[in-house]
Amino acid sequence: MPAAKSSALRLTDSPAAYGLISKFLHWGMVGLFVWQLTSVLLRVFFWESGGEAQAAARAMWRTHHQVGVLILGCALLRGSWGLLNARRRPPHEDSVLGRAAWLGHLALYALMILVPSIAVLRFHAMARAPLNAFGFEILPQGPAPNEALRSIGDLLHGPLGWTLFALIFGHILMVVLHQVFWRDATLARMTGEGAPPVA
Ligand code: HEM
Ligand code: HEM
Repeated sequence: MPAAKSSALRLTDSPAAYGLISKFLHWGMVGLFVWQLTSVLLRVFFWESGGEAQAAARAMWRTHHQVGVLILGCALLRGSWGLLNARRRPPHEDSVLGRAAWLGHLALYALMILVPSIAVLRFHAMARAPLNAFGFEILPQGPAPNEALRSIGDLLHGPLGWTLFALIFGHILMVVLHQVFWRDATLARMTGEGAPPVA
């Protein structure tokens, strides 16, 4: 079936399904978020546990800021791609649930950008060292310590990070509801060819 094949290999989004680039960014970032959640959970539960669990917690934690910076870069790229595709990607239903889904996605984007940005600004405000990730200098060392900016970071980064994880959990729960109870094409839009929107 050549028509089906070409729609499955589409790079850009269509009203029936997300294209390959959106799918790659979505599922690739799911992997990064699993990594990031593992790093914070190990830190919370095993930081002082001793033994191999503590060694694993500390090793994972050394990757937290780098993976966070990567998430920020991917979120900016994904947001720009989303805006470029805004007119052709699967529309949200014109209903209360559809508007809630739109708001939920918007909140996910806001936090995906805000949470790592706050941490990057806090790091810069500490003025201790340049911010490096994966061998690249992302930001030069801050000129002088900025205690106000640093305390805003201390106050907000962790709580907003947990809020983001909670929102992701809610997002996954909604996808499960769509798949198991309403049996519609929501999941298929992000995994396969989806279905054209109902008029
Ligand atoms: C989307 C990306 C990120 C997420 C979801 C995230 C999430 C979190 C969470 C939930 C905590 C609290 C852990 C606890 O309660 O002990 C935390 C702590 C921390 N994060 Fe991140 N983080 C991200 C990016 C970054 C980046 C880019 C940096 C550094 C530039 C960073 C540096 C830190 C530091 C130093 C802490 C410990 C101090 C604190 O609790 O604020 N994070 N992160
Ligand atoms: C197992 C985990 C996940 C599953 C099964 C899943 C599934 C889906 C599905 C089916 C859609 C399409 C919804 C629609 O068209 O109405 C979607 C969209 C979306 N998902 Fe996920 N998701 C997961 C994890 C995540 C994570 C970790 C994030 C990160 C914050 C995320 C952020 C988004 C966003 C922002 C959209 C809107 C489309 C876009 O701009 O990419 N998802 N997800």
